[in-house]
Amino acid sequence: MLALAVFLLLLTETTAGWSKPDTWRMHDRGGCIAREREALLSIKAGITADPEHLLSSWQGQDCCRWEGVRCSNMTGHVIELELHARGDFSLLEGEISSSLKDLEHLQHLDLGGNFFLTGPQGRLPEFVGSLRDLRYLNLSNVNFSGVVPRQLGNLSKLQFLDLTSQDLHSDDLSWLPQLSLLKYLDMSYVNLGAVISLVDTVNMMASLEVLKLQWCSLNTTSQFVSHSNLTKLKILDISNNAIPMQFDTISWVWDAPNLKYLNLKNTGVYGMFPAQLGNLSSLEVLQLSGNHLKGMIPDTLCSLRIFELAENGVQGNVVEFIKRLPTCSWSQLQVLNLEGNNITGSLPDWISHMTSLTILDLGFNKLTGPLPAGIGEDDWKETWDRNQA
Ligand SMILES: *[C@@H]1O[C@H](CO)[C@@H](O)[C@H](O)[C@H]1NC(C)=O
Ligand SMILES: *[C@@H]1O[C@H](CO)[C@@H](O)[C@H](O)[C@H]1NC(C)=O
Ligand SMILES: *[C@@H]1O[C@H](CO)[C@@H](O)[C@H](O)[C@H]1NC(C)=O
Ligand SMILES: *[C@@H]1O[C@H](CO)[C@@H](O)[C@H](O)[C@H]1NC(C)=O
Ligand SMILES: *[C@@H]1O[C@H](CO)[C@@H](O)[C@H](O)[C@H]1NC(C)=O
Ligand SMILES: *[C@@H]1O[C@H](CO)[C@@H](O)[C@H](O)[C@H]1NC(C)=O
Ligand SMILES: *[C@@H]1O[C@H](CO)[C@@H](O)[C@H](O)[C@H]1NC(C)=O
Ligand SMILES: *[C@@H]1O[C@H](CO)[C@@H](O)[C@H](O)[C@H]1NC(C)=O
Repeated sequence: MLALAVFLLLLTETTAGWSKPDTWRMHDRGGCIAREREALLSIKAGITADPEHLLSSWQGQDCCRWEGVRCSNMTGHVIELELHARGDFSLLEGEISSSLKDLEHLQHLDLGGNFFLTGPQGRLPEFVGSLRDLRYLNLSNVNFSGVVPRQLGNLSKLQFLDLTSQDLHSDDLSWLPQLSLLKYLDMSYVNLGAVISLVDTVNMMASLEVLKLQWCSLNTTSQFVSHSNLTKLKILDISNNAIPMQFDTISWVWDAPNLKYLNLKNTGVYGMFPAQLGNLSSLEVLQLSGNHLKGMIPDTLCSLRIFELAENGVQGNVVEFIKRLPTCSWSQLQVLNLEGNNITGSLPDWISHMTSLTILDLGFNKLTGPLPAGIGEDDWKETWDRNQA
């Protein structure tokens, strides 16, 4: 008898779900599915400090109205949990409850910037890999330590993945290509020193537009010799890794024809600027400071806005060097940093034709001669003085 009653109840529920319009269902249930409200309350219970009272609205029936929570207006399910740190002093502290996995319909999960938040045993929990509807996952600067779980490879709808973190490491990223829709990957500061075939792995990620791997302890040069086929890649940042190799042998970079932003700062690359660099005609930002580069840049980089080449071994005449920046780039060039090279000669008057230039740093070179007319401003003067010294 009791069993029958339960069955009937379930049937009514299901029927209601099918036949009633969604708006009606939302009102009927206070806009929030009970199981998901329970999960959110468990998450709240795991938070030991919340200085900005981010979660103070997390009470009452309608969890869809709680701060940082968004529900689907079609299904009523929680689809978004946006709990990134609000400012510097609003950090959630505590441990992420495993009830998070009950929010099965989450599409967007952002816990970014909560330095004091962690997971069970301090780990990035494997159960995050069961949130199969995720499109956006931001766990940057959350206090996770240990291994990046390969279960993340189950998130096949993911488009944005930010795992920037000081204490994570991985020696196996073979699950990454399973994220076939991924456009944005930031694993900066994750120790990837033991990953053997990083480049081959990334090459299989056809949708990738942004790849940021700064400070990842990358140290095997051989892999960067591979060719790439990353036709969609626009932003590549592998700065602050040990990649002491001749610049023209980093084939991987030369094969990404649509790069707009390339950061190879402090990687130890050396040698002459290769002709292939001239083929990256969409480059707007080129950051090469802190390496051992010499010679002259190719003269085809028409879109450059920011060019940083401080602390390298560039020799030669400043006029000759600056002339390699094609006239088509003059109107948009904003930053030219050639500090700490071995550049000689004197600055030409026509530098004032670079109408957008706001930072020109030529300090610690071997420039001589008078300061060109029209650039009497203090910063420039100071730069100049550092050469005359
Ligand atoms: C439902 O949500 C979508 C996207 O979140 C929005 O564009 C649409 O206007 C919403 N519909 C209603 C009835 O609120
Ligand atoms: C992740 O969050 C951090 C800080 O909260 C932010 O700086 C970063 O841009 C976010 N990443 C993505 C992919 O949106
Ligand atoms: C991060 O967690 C570790 C333990 O896993 C702890 O020792 C450390 O103090 C935490 N850091 C912060 C900023 O909370
Ligand atoms: C996720 O991936 C792991 C290994 O990659 C697999 O064993 C597991 O069954 C998958 N499913 C879930 C829900 O974690
Ligand atoms: C590269 O880094 C890994 C892990 O940090 C280390 O075990 C390995 O010895 C390093 N290899 C070289 C050539 O420095
Ligand atoms: C790049 O080539 C590899 C094989 O060399 C292939 O597996 C991968 O799918 C290709 N990626 C793209 C983006 O076409
Ligand atoms: C530049 O690109 C063109 C067309 O893709 C190619 O034929 C040429 O070999 C490339 N030049 C260099 C120096 O890589
Ligand atoms: C500049 O040139 C001098 C002599 O030619 C050399 O000793 C010095 O190392 C060079 N400095 C840089 C930063 O390349």
